[in-house]
Amino acid sequence: MECILRKWKIEDAKELAELLNNPKILDNLRDGLPYPYTRKDAEEYISSMLSADKDKTFAFAITADGRVVGSIGIFRCDNIHFRTAEMGYYIGEPYWGKGMGTGAVKQACDYVFSNTDIIRIFAEPFSHNTASCRVLEKAGFVFEGLLRSNAVKNGRVIDMKMYSLIKGEQ
Ligand SMILES: CC(C)(COP(=O)(O)OP(=O)(O)OC[C@H]1O[C@@H](n2cnc3c(N)ncnc32)[C@H](O)[C@@H]1OP(=O)(O)O)[C@@H](O)C(=O)NCCC(=O)NCCS
Repeated sequence: MECILRKWKIEDAKELAELLNNPKILDNLRDGLPYPYTRKDAEEYISSMLSADKDKTFAFAITADGRVVGSIGIFRCDNIHFRTAEMGYYIGEPYWGKGMGTGAVKQACDYVFSNTDIIRIFAEPFSHNTASCRVLEKAGFVFEGLLRSNAVKNGRVIDMKMYSLIKGEQ
């Protein structure tokens, strides 16, 4: 199944809220997102992405067959890391295992490397998040190392993994 990335629209809030209101997704992301995740939360997120600095935030709705199936964002870092960016993403559970995550990561990275001066994109999945690590590997990311005891999620100390893609490698 082919996915298409496009700019967010405020009308996407309903579908986005349905996808993200799922502990199986939230458990694999950083803290800060509410559960239950409501349409109002989704509207606030979409508005903030639409008004964000266009040189620092590259956020896309992941769509397939005209429906929103996920979300991906690449965010420029600060200070000496200004040519580095962090990527985050998720796919709604009904669409897992269809290549959407991999397609979206490849397309978002191609967009950022082609349209900005960013030279490094990294992602830090939890080490037990095998699906996300696999997506990054399939998209050409290189595993750089294990970040030991790097976070506390749901009361548990966990390791994370550092993956990166350098412009020209993809
Ligand atoms: C991670 C996520 C984006 C993957 O999306 P997806 O569209 O299912 O990804 P793809 O279909 O492109 O690829 C998934 C790969 O992981 C593999 N995989 C999935 N679950 C797995 C598991 N438990 N063990 C081993 N491999 C697994 C699939 O087999 C597939 O690899 P393959 O093509 O070699 O068979 C999706 O599961 C998700 O949103 N999870 C919750 C949020 C999250 O983890 N976001 C990333 C935070 S870093």
